[in-house]
Amino acid sequence: MKTQYYTASSLDGYIATEDHSLDWLFQFGDTGSSDFEDFLSQVGALVMGSQTYEWILRNHVRPDTVAKQPWPYGQPSWVFTTRPLPAAPGADIQFVQGDVRHLFRKIAKSAEGKNIWIVGGGDLAGQFYDNGLLDEVIVQVTAVTLGSGRPLLPRRITHPPLTLMSARTFGNAFVELKYLVTKTSTA
Ligand SMILES: NC(=O)c1ccc[n+]([C@@H]2O[C@H](COP(=O)([O-])OP(=O)(O)OC[C@H]3O[C@@H](n4cnc5c(N)ncnc54)[C@H](OP(=O)(O)O)[C@@H]3O)[C@@H](O)[C@H]2O)c1
Repeated sequence: MKTQYYTASSLDGYIATEDHSLDWLFQFGDTGSSDFEDFLSQVGALVMGSQTYEWILRNHVRPDTVAKQPWPYGQPSWVFTTRPLPAAPGADIQFVQGDVRHLFRKIAKSAEGKNIWIVGGGDLAGQFYDNGLLDEVIVQVTAVTLGSGRPLLPRRITHPPLTLMSARTFGNAFVELKYLVTKTSTA
């Protein structure tokens, strides 16, 4: 079982604009070459912050509209928030808050031996990193810069650096980088 932060990023290290737009990413459409379906088939539980959850609700589930769709994930989803949020209809969602260390055992149990996907945002992935609970960072770097926005991983990770496992291109706008998080006794 691995904990993987899997996301797309602009070239300058943002996963969304300040106002949580992903239009810059979706302009590329479905490139057809990403291994997302393979990745998702190995995921047993999802973890996300409230802004990511609300983005999915607003843009995909749209519960109170004629265009409503089901929550896109069958696995248990753990949403970190300090606020009361509406639950997506029919979804297996736990709203939690606080220290990721204290919740990790429950999250891992819910994954039933499969991987944990940290969907975003970057600081939440950082909280797992801070506690030595992040194993891999998988980023699809996209051919745009945003100048500012929601950061990919707002932590200083230098000594030891991440270990690059692979780099590959897909479509004509993406480079996927897979990194292993080097564990230290203090991480
Ligand atoms: N490019 C991509 O592929 C990609 C992937 C994923 C997400 N995104 C986008 O990136 C943006 C991420 O937004 P974001 O940077 O604000 O991050 P976020 O993690 O989605 O949301 C941050 C919020 O999560 C809650 N939170 C985080 N840690 C917590 C903790 N330990 N306990 C309780 N609550 C906690 C807090 O909200 P409360 O105010 O609710 O307490 C915090 O303000 C979203 O727009 C999302 O759609 C893009």
